[in-house]
Amino acid sequence: MVKPYKDSSSSKKDQVTSMFDGIAKNYDALNRVISMGIDKSWRRKLVAMVAQKNPKEVVDVATGTGDLALALTSIPNATITGIDIAVEMLEIGKQKVYQNKLDRRIKMVVGDAESLPLTDASIDAVTVAFGVRNFGDLNKGLSEIYRILKPGGQLFVLETSVPKKQFFRFGYKLYSSLFLPLVGRLFSSDKNAYTYLSDSAAAFPYGEAFNNKLKKVGFSTVEDHPQTFGVVTIYKATKRIDA
Ligand SMILES: C[S@@+](CC[C@H](N)C(=O)[O-])C[C@H]1O[C@@H](n2cnc3c(N)ncnc32)[C@H](O)[C@@H]1O
Repeated sequence: MVKPYKDSSSSKKDQVTSMFDGIAKNYDALNRVISMGIDKSWRRKLVAMVAQKNPKEVVDVATGTGDLALALTSIPNATITGIDIAVEMLEIGKQKVYQNKLDRRIKMVVGDAESLPLTDASIDAVTVAFGVRNFGDLNKGLSEIYRILKPGGQLFVLETSVPKKQFFRFGYKLYSSLFLPLVGRLFSSDKNAYTYLSDSAAAFPYGEAFNNKLKKVGFSTVEDHPQTFGVVTIYKATKRIDA
């Protein structure tokens, strides 16, 4: 298991929480730089996929500073709940909701993906952007999401992946071993945070391997849609209608 602080014995969940709390103020700027601004278009694409079934109750798990929660308000009549374990990340998200006068559309709640504060089968769609690879227990987090979805409800995950084509894979390796740590040093004094971002991205299951994780918790139809040469993938998984 890849953890942010290798020389600490605390749990991955505790380490991830304090790491994100520590980088919260720089997170948005950093995000734009490390994705070279493309993260916005990945989120737009994901929102367009979510919108296809006109969900009313949408939960954005690991919402962080809330960019995806805000983007989801483009779905007419949808109510969005953003949930995150890191209070400082969520605080920045709350400010954005307030500044954009979206308090009636978005609720921001502190909570753990592995124990979601929501009732069974109550949600139409769940989204997670760059969150699942940070869960302390991936299987538990995915099972919780499955539990809160209505039968036929959908989960959309946006997560890092590794390009399949040799040429792009090589470029990606250069990017994550040279560019990422450099940007990390410029934006934050927590050098572990950026080693963790690239190490965890390299180790995380993607494509078929992640599809299998989704099927294991019960999702029926599972699709993966690689984006930008496969540096990230959008997954769509549907809860069984007879669940
Ligand atoms: C890389 S950030 C992504 C934030 C946001 N979704 C985005 O796309 O910018 C990962 C987020 O996952 C959150 N996170 C990690 N483990 C979590 C858990 N068990 N429950 C809820 N949030 C969690 C972190 O606190 C952090 O805000």
